[in-house]
Amino acid sequence: MADAGSGAGAEGRAVAPPAAIPAAPPSGDGTAAGVSPPPPEIGSPEARIGVRDLTMAYGSFVLMRDLNFGIRRGSIFVIMGGSGCGKTTLLKHMIGLVEPARGEILYGEESFTRASGERRQELLRSFGVTYQQGALWSSKTLSENVALPLEQYTDLSAREIREICELKLALVGLKGFEDYYPSQISGGMRKRAGLARAMALDPDVLFFDEPSAGLDPISSHLLDELILELRDSLGSTVVLVTHELPSIFAIADDSVFLDTATRTMAARGNPRELLRNCDDPTVHRFLTRGAEEHPERRPA
Ligand SMILES: Nc1ncnc2c1ncn2[C@@H]1O[C@H](COP(=O)(O)OP(=O)(O)OP(=O)(O)O)[C@@H](O)[C@H]1O
Ligand SMILES: [Mg+2]
Repeated sequence: MADAGSGAGAEGRAVAPPAAIPAAPPSGDGTAAGVSPPPPEIGSPEARIGVRDLTMAYGSFVLMRDLNFGIRRGSIFVIMGGSGCGKTTLLKHMIGLVEPARGEILYGEESFTRASGERRQELLRSFGVTYQQGALWSSKTLSENVALPLEQYTDLSAREIREICELKLALVGLKGFEDYYPSQISGGMRKRAGLARAMALDPDVLFFDEPSAGLDPISSHLLDELILELRDSLGSTVVLVTHELPSIFAIADDSVFLDTATRTMAARGNPRELLRNCDDPTVHRFLTRGAEEHPERRPA
């Protein structure tokens, strides 16, 4: 099935970014900056993740319907939208914490929604997740926190696990803090420790729910660099929920915008291209913080 996301009328042409927006790094698949590849077809090998005909609901309360998009393997994909529109809920659908009211989630060509419990567990093992609320165990040291998934899912020795924990913590700039407790480090360091834990099993897909919320701009920038590095060095596919416009413009290869008013996706594509090409006023307001008119409607 073709990616119905294109129906949102938001597939961008290749355009030069506006001066205020930082230059984009080359995307994960080696595409030149500013030129986005076409969206991958849902259920194709190029789509690491597929969201097909998804309706999300809590009981009779329908949050979003008709969500359709594929997430390209090795890309950084951002879920955007106003507070309470259902971003975290969409992430929860992707990792099986909430079941679709209709439709399905696919990994490559395989349906995650229809997979057996055992198969789902296998698939889940290739994911790393950091939740919006952070959630490190306060009674465990950083090293012990990172060790948890390794103890749960591997047969590695205690020594091997310790070595991996040191490596992952070093990767997020926390070398030397292995034996600290979460209460002994700053909020930004806790966020990074959460990322180290999500990376413990070298996941192929990483889900981050607002990883930079509450961080100062420099820590936030470092986190962006780390996410880019994960994509480029491990080839991971990264699904990111964030409101941080500088991050969105700096690192996103692709995105979807969830619109509370219409209860469906209002746009789909590279945010830098959406900024120039998307006519939806809600999307445009979001991408400009409500500060700017659409470029084509600006006085000359
Ligand atoms: N477990 C639940 N049961 C019922 N309703 C829920 C549940 N979780 C979330 N909701 C509702 O679903 C809506 C979307 O919530 P969600 O947390 O997905 O939004 P969000 O876009 O992530 O918001 P934010 O930007 O504030 O994090 C909200 O109205 C929320 O009250
Ligand atoms: Mg949320």
